[in-house]
Formats: sequence, structure tokens, C-alpha cells
Amino acid sequence: MSVTEEILKLKKEKNAVILAHYYVRPEVQAIADYIGDSFYLSKVAVGLKEQVIVFCGVSFMGESAKILNPQKTVLMPDASADCAMAHMATAEQIQKMRDTYEDLAVVCYINSTAELKMYSDVCVTSANAVKIVKALPNKNIFFIPDKNLAHFVAQSCPEKHFIYNDGYCPVHEKMLTEEICALRKEHPQAQVLTHPECPREVLEMSDYIGSTSGIIGCAAKSSCKEFIICTENGVRYELEKQNPQKKFYFTVTEPVCADMKLITPEKIYHVLQSGENEVHIDEKMREKCIRPLERMLELAEAGVSADNDKRGQA
Ligand code: 13P
Ligand code: SF4
Repeated sequence: MSVTEEILKLKKEKNAVILAHYYVRPEVQAIADYIGDSFYLSKVAVGLKEQVIVFCGVSFMGESAKILNPQKTVLMPDASADCAMAHMATAEQIQKMRDTYEDLAVVCYINSTAELKMYSDVCVTSANAVKIVKALPNKNIFFIPDKNLAHFVAQSCPEKHFIYNDGYCPVHEKMLTEEICALRKEHPQAQVLTHPECPREVLEMSDYIGSTSGIIGCAAKSSCKEFIICTENGVRYELEKQNPQKKFYFTVTEPVCADMKLITPEKIYHVLQSGENEVHIDEKMREKCIRPLERMLELAEAGVSADNDKRGQA
């Protein structure tokens, strides 16, 4: 039996479901039951009928799934797969801002540790951040951990006062404008589609800015045939699957999240069989963490659309 067949068999036996982020390896995406961006996956994680969730992503994703589903077993194929940005803020910084500013909301990008969520007022993802920040009654916004996403959101929320943190995604931060310019020269018809975790100079040269799902949706809808993709290279799999007739180019220094790539079919098989790498969250901590996550889900669902993706950034 192939690994895939073994996984399918074990999934049935263990009453398990596989969730995967767009940044994991193509062979992992190919065997997942649900693939998506962070927002989609956090919504899907609520209300699954299966008892076991195998989360093919980094630790904050598995933690969020467990916080929202305490009665389920959440397994991580590789327990060391972590997001560097998730640790780039501290509880002390949050307290300092709370002491300094009245009328403050601590807005926590979902790419953060459970500890940071515990001290935050609301979570956001790159797909809903603008909508949620706009819906908050507070004037002052301390946005953690990502400075790039914070600046992007602030542009659309001039009525708010933003306090920035110094965090960033090491993969998106390395996106180079010279490399994008070189690709544009080679492919002058191509549209530049960019994730808001990229630095401001990259956002400024983009035709579209949005979450991974937003980028995939934009490429599918566009009449354009070529795209320069400024995000992690795992999205190539879904882009090419949905648009076999279109061309997708990535920068020469190809953006790769080494942690996302730690997940393999063999590791999925192993945790399904052994039950290893289960996510545990202390109940007192969970009770605090669930509030900002549930608030995100409520605010994102309110109104017309949960999508903050923006077109036509000059
Ligand atoms: P989205 O899934 O919200 O597009 O974010 C990308 C990311 O960096 C996930 O780690
Ligand atoms: Fe974290 Fe960046 Fe990897 Fe996403 S791509 S998991 S933000 S390090």
C-alpha cells in the first residue's frame, strides 16, 4: 500500500480529518481534506464531525484549532514546525501599552503564540484584519506581532491611531523589489499579486494585495494570463491546479517557509498511527485565548464580507 492509501485507511479507522495550509508541500496538500488560508482553516476547525484533527501547518495553527475545539484531539505531524513571527511580541509590551493608552484595543494577528492571544482583545488574519479593526470601537490600536500587516491595515483605517510592533515574517520580509522589477521586465504583462506580510516597498509595486486565498481568488478571476506571486511558494500548487493555462512566477530568491515544509505524508501517517504530537492547552489559558478568537469569528461574519483584500494598490 502507498503512504497515501495507508493514510486514507488510518483516517477512517481513527475518525480523523486532515487540514492543510497553502504553504505546505504539494504532496501534503494533495492528501488534505481541507486546504486554505489561516482564516478559512480556523473557521473550518469549528464544527468538524471527526474526532481527530491532523493540522498540517505550524504550531499557532494547531493551538488555535485546539483552543476552539477543546474536546477534539489535535495532532501536529511535526511538533517543531513553528512560526518565527508568532514569538515577536511579549506580554510585557502589551501591558506597557495598556498602561500608556486609554481606549486601546490589542489586535493580535493569528500568527502568534497562545500566550500572546491570552492578553489580546481580538485576533485577525490577513483576510479579515481591515474589516475587524474598522469594527472595533477603540481609537488606539496596538497591532501585534506583524509590523507590515499593521501598516497595510492602517492605510485603510485612517480614523484609528496605530501603535506598531517590530515583528515580521522572515519569509515575506526577504522579498526583494529588485527581483520583482527583474520579473516585471521579463514579463511586462504580468500582474503582481502580494501578501500583506511583505514590506511596504513591495506592497507599493503590487497590483493586488491579499491573503493567500485572496491571491488565489484574484488569479482565478483575472483575465490576465501571467502573474508575479509575492508570497510563499506553496501557493503555486493551488494556483497551477486551478489555472493550468496561466503562468506564475516567483522571485529568484524563492520564498520558502522551512517550517511549513517540515510536514510530509510520512509524518502524517506516523502521528495518525501513534497519536504523538498532540496539542495540549492549559484550560485556564484556553478560556482566555478563546475570547479573541471567537470575537474574530463573530466580527468577520458580521456584515457583507469577511474579506479585506484590496485591489489597485499603486
Ligand atoms: P494567510 O494564511 O492568512 O494568508 O497568512 C499567511 C501566513 O503567513 C500563514 O502563516
Ligand atoms: Fe510564519 Fe512566515 Fe512561515 Fe507564515 S510564512 S508560518 S508567517 S514564518
